[in-house]
Amino acid sequence: MKESATEYDWSMTSSDDPRMSALVSGAQLAAARAYAPYSSFAVGACVLADDGTVFSGCNVENASYGLTVCAERNAIFQMVAAGQQRFRAIVIYTPTAEPTPPCGACRQVLSEFSRDAVVVSVCNGPEVRRSTVAALLPDGFELKGR
Ligand code: THU
Repeated sequence: MKESATEYDWSMTSSDDPRMSALVSGAQLAAARAYAPYSSFAVGACVLADDGTVFSGCNVENASYGLTVCAERNAIFQMVAAGQQRFRAIVIYTPTAEPTPPCGACRQVLSEFSRDAVVVSVCNGPEVRRSTVAALLPDGFELKGR
């Protein structure tokens, strides 16, 4: 397993790679569907599964705030429900001036499925943040040693 960002082939995260622009469009569409009446902070995520299929998710909030589910986890759960458990990339879009990296809970969920996947955060400004799941969550929790 590739654990180091330096070993990863970043070429597909170039904004002119058609796979990347499809993921960005999917994340933008998902963000437009966010249910975020409490925070007014819309997030969209789009995952590229190993078989080439794409899954989207938005954040879904609740009046009982703690029940809110982030966009990244909703996208991953869509992927798993469709029968895919490995992914190559996830793009996170927020309609903000700066990109938004995934929260800690989402990093743990991403780590469950593909530590070598690329994580790209895009926004309405020029900055793009690129990382890998392994780099965002070193030493993530694994249920072992029982
Ligand atoms: N949110 C996400 O969707 N993804 C993250 O990684 C961080 C936060 C959502 C949850 C909530 O609806 C809103 O952003 C503000 O926290």
